[in-house]
Amino acid sequence: MPPSSPQRSRSRRSLALAALFGLLATLLLYATPADASAALRQHAAARGRFIGTALATGPLASETAYRDLAAAEFNQVTPENALKWDATEPSQGQFSFGGADAIVSFAAQNDQQVHGHTLVWHNQTPGWVQSLGATAMRSAMQNHISQVVGRYASNPAVVSWDVVNEVFDDNGNLRASFWYNTLGQSYIADAFRAARAADPDARLCINDYNTEGINAKSTALYNLVSSLRQQGVPVDCVGFQSHLAIQYGFPGQMQQNLQRFADLGVQVRITELDVRMVMPRDATKDATQATYYRDVVNACLAVTACAGITIWGFTDKYSWVPDTFSGQGAALIYDQSYQRKPAYTAVHDALAGGTVTDTTPPTTPGTPAASGVTVSTATLTWTASTDSGGSGLAGYIVYREQGATDPELGRGTGTSLTLTGLSAATQYQVYVRARDGAGNLSPASATVTFTTATGGGSGGGCSAAGTVQSQWSTGYVVQPVTVTNTGTATINGWTVTFTLPAGHALTGSWNATLTVAGQTVTARSLAYNATLAPGATATFGFQASRPSGDTATPSGYTCAS
Ligand code: XIL
Repeated sequence: MPPSSPQRSRSRRSLALAALFGLLATLLLYATPADASAALRQHAAARGRFIGTALATGPLASETAYRDLAAAEFNQVTPENALKWDATEPSQGQFSFGGADAIVSFAAQNDQQVHGHTLVWHNQTPGWVQSLGATAMRSAMQNHISQVVGRYASNPAVVSWDVVNEVFDDNGNLRASFWYNTLGQSYIADAFRAARAADPDARLCINDYNTEGINAKSTALYNLVSSLRQQGVPVDCVGFQSHLAIQYGFPGQMQQNLQRFADLGVQVRITELDVRMVMPRDATKDATQATYYRDVVNACLAVTACAGITIWGFTDKYSWVPDTFSGQGAALIYDQSYQRKPAYTAVHDALAGGTVTDTTPPTTPGTPAASGVTVSTATLTWTASTDSGGSGLAGYIVYREQGATDPELGRGTGTSLTLTGLSAATQYQVYVRARDGAGNLSPASATVTFTTATGGGSGGGCSAAGTVQSQWSTGYVVQPVTVTNTGTATINGWTVTFTLPAGHALTGSWNATLTVAGQTVTARSLAYNATLAPGATATFGFQASRPSGDTATPSGYTCAS
């Protein structure tokens, strides 16, 4: 039956699975042109990612140009300093959230998500914390997390936290910070548990630098995340700071590194991207820098579990780099006058230029007309479909209306198709569906009915029908396939073709010789069952395997003699 009403969903599913391009083609991706004028955040959103910036409270309060670009280009923000311990709890139990609140409300006004950075770090933490004894330090840490995370737990803008930051040293050993020296490694798990308790819905990250590529430090982080998760510690996410420098080279195997973390079941994200250079800046360095930005964005886009990319500020006017790395700078995507640099274009084009899945099917083809009907052939002609989903019209498939499962009779790329191998003296009711480059099938056209000619003395027609005798989740037996001489003369040899769904494989057959080409199986008679008098039948059978959970079975049994 044509898939045109809700109760026909079983037929619709069977049709889709029977299509040669079904499973693989629906995964097919195609390039879509970028809208050059759209902001970074629009392209990122279209890719299901965030593009973020660190925000500094000073210029946010005082500069319109800073505010306008931050709002227009980014859909995620990270307070650069306003949520660090020295800002939020400068003396014990005295909390101050002025700077953080200003950023959170800016983000909420501009439909941006906020990433909280950072709860437990060895830097920018007041002296009073560092001098506490173990018991007092642990409870100060838990209280700090509970107060800071708790303050924003019900604020929908604040969605994630760096719970611990930079717990490894440059060699990949746990950093001998005051946290570690006083509390031992357990402070890490305790911090995550306290954050989960304070906001069960927030995504909780561990964040570090020089972990972007595969190296000793990233492997140490990988092992830590793996073991924390095995112990049930709520680590949801790993942040890769990505403070890069063109004079040091691009991190090796960044995409593979992100992927190995993703394979642990965590979300990954680029959290503090900047690409510095030895000053002065010049066009060659700008161009190299742009390739670094491009390659980081592409590494994230290539990993499904990579949620997005945050740049550590956006204008060279406000960047931590010159203050921290002597003689270096120009690390961001806008210059000091808020002009876009090649790095901006690189980020923009990487976000915009990728791949999109087409989920829009073509329009319904016109009603086919049948002509040139013979004993075993008929030519169908119809008016064309159009496809607006982007992947383009790929062709048409003709189906026979036959109850629960409608077999495919043929396919082609034009608006006319000659069906072959039809049974003689048989009424066919057929319809057409269009297929696009992504494998989407249009609704079924209206049907046309024709009857093949009666077989003459020179031979005659035959028909074939297969019955699924038994099936299980990974396979089935079709027995019998019944071949019937539908003509008026004896036939000496028959050939049955049918369609094997994608991913299925024959594992055995009997009473015929079966060969497979693509998804088409051809079964030829053997000497002892080749000859059939009019009305006589022969049978054969086969067994096949299929992907676990796939419920499809072969269709489109067609006999020729
Ligand atoms: C930096 C800020 O950008 C500076 O303004 C501040 O003076 C020092 O910290 N890794 C981190 C960030 O996790 O918090 C740091 O931010 C940069 C390195």
